[in-house]
Amino acid sequence: MSVNMDKLVSLCKRRGFLFPSSEIYGGLNGFWDYGPLGVELKRNLKDAWWKDMISAHDDLDAPPGAPLAYQMVGLDCSIVMHPQVWKCSGHYDLFHDFMVDCRESKKRYRHDQVRGRWVEARGKRFFVATQVGGEEGLKETETRALKHLGLRAKQVEELVWDGALVSLTTVASFEEVLGPDATSLGTLTPPREFNLMFKTFVGALSGEEGAAFLRPETAQGIFVNFKNVVDSSRVKLPFGIGQVGKSFRNEITPRNFTFRSREFEQMEIEFFCHPSQSPEWYRYWRDRRYRWYTDLGLASSRLRLRDHDHDELSHYSCGTADIEYAFPFLPPGEFGELEGIAHRGDFDLRSHREGKLARINGELSVELDAEGKPRHKGSGKDIRYFDDQIKERFYPHVIEPSAGADRGTLAFLCEAFHEEEVEGETRTVLRLHPRLAPVKVAILPLVNKDGMPEMAARIYKEMKRDYSVYYDDGGAIGRRYRRQDEIGTPYCITVDGQSLTDGTVTWRDRDTLEQIRIRAEDALPELQKRLRI
Ligand code: GAP
Repeated sequence: MSVNMDKLVSLCKRRGFLFPSSEIYGGLNGFWDYGPLGVELKRNLKDAWWKDMISAHDDLDAPPGAPLAYQMVGLDCSIVMHPQVWKCSGHYDLFHDFMVDCRESKKRYRHDQVRGRWVEARGKRFFVATQVGGEEGLKETETRALKHLGLRAKQVEELVWDGALVSLTTVASFEEVLGPDATSLGTLTPPREFNLMFKTFVGALSGEEGAAFLRPETAQGIFVNFKNVVDSSRVKLPFGIGQVGKSFRNEITPRNFTFRSREFEQMEIEFFCHPSQSPEWYRYWRDRRYRWYTDLGLASSRLRLRDHDHDELSHYSCGTADIEYAFPFLPPGEFGELEGIAHRGDFDLRSHREGKLARINGELSVELDAEGKPRHKGSGKDIRYFDDQIKERFYPHVIEPSAGADRGTLAFLCEAFHEEEVEGETRTVLRLHPRLAPVKVAILPLVNKDGMPEMAARIYKEMKRDYSVYYDDGGAIGRRYRRQDEIGTPYCITVDGQSLTDGTVTWRDRDTLEQIRIRAEDALPELQKRLRI
């Protein structure tokens, strides 16, 4: 089913999943607030990740597919860290995108996100740029080429197109480029580097001395605490450290709802292992993380695991696979990244000790300045791992499954959104996995009299201690069911006339619409049973 993004975005606003940040002041591009239901949904996703990956992980037995049993622990690190962290991690020098500005429209674009196609007409050959992909992009470039040439729609035959949409990065000079929002040629500036880290100042020092950055990933907090964790928690290789928290990137063009935001949350694992075992662990984490998404309800037909080409690899990575989802706002056949699983080798631990590494003639070595000194000095602290079985001190290799909590939340919302005909009416339903649903069950007294509210309130109070439960006594019962369907509540319990005589209630299932009668005292165990999947 294709999801209408406008309808989903409007549902998110109307029912309190997501609001633009600072909306009463016109919003701030790239920043979002989660409303009362959104915060529950995203928290459920993060809790599911934390439980499945960290707290409920069995340290004693190897999970299916794992080469060995292993341990998992957690961390929660500060957002502002010592500025040297980002110099040694490579972010200070390398974490940038290229941007182009338009002198006419005053808009700014990410170089690699602008596409377009070449056209020839009336003796002119030029490149029509657009930010839109697929069929819509073709239509848009056609309309703008006609407008630029002062032609009418019926003169479309005069346009001779040279191939399909291609990236602006394939265009050497911008003199013949019609920018995405421009009417004249040659208004785009040459691409310029733009570092994505947000800069701030710590304490009263306002100059460069006090300069620091908001973290662009949670990963580095884990690396710089590697030794602390080893020394304090008796973990032995192989083991993983997980962290969930905010990251910040000053994205040039935030877009597609929350997909590309400037403030977002990550759920990252750094998994440390002996270098000789890292290829096996890399394969294990690729598969395990893919399965996690399908287990929680993403359809495998819209999900794919894609290995990066060599030229796509980040500066630290010697192998990366992305888990990608066919978000409905992307052109057909295109996928957006949900999570990356990277084989980071020993890049980070070595850099934080020895100084920033760089790939020189294919080998990672400390990057030197003109005087032969490390360009960015490491901490000098020996943060290597000592294996007391084999009496060897070494840098472990790292496999990093790095997921976005906001992109995950958005993917599950897109997957869940359905509109269907039921009894001659359109029913909007979010088919969220019960573990993710913001409200687990709604308690509905059929009418507000005859002891029904009292019985419903007893069930509500019993369940509310452990679960997110909603009590609704307003309006016709059909309308109340629809309100719950629309926010993804998997179950509704109705207290009716029969409840007062035989102590049973109606249990309604969101997806099958099946209604069964169960005893009121069985309602809580029934919910517990269904949520343990
Ligand atoms: N430590 C590795 C790392 O940060 P990444 O691929 O840059 O890798 C990991 O980011 C995940 O974080 C992405 O797969 C995505 O889910 C999420 N993410 C990255 N940038 C984002 C943004 N601007 N908005 C929302 N989520 C983002």
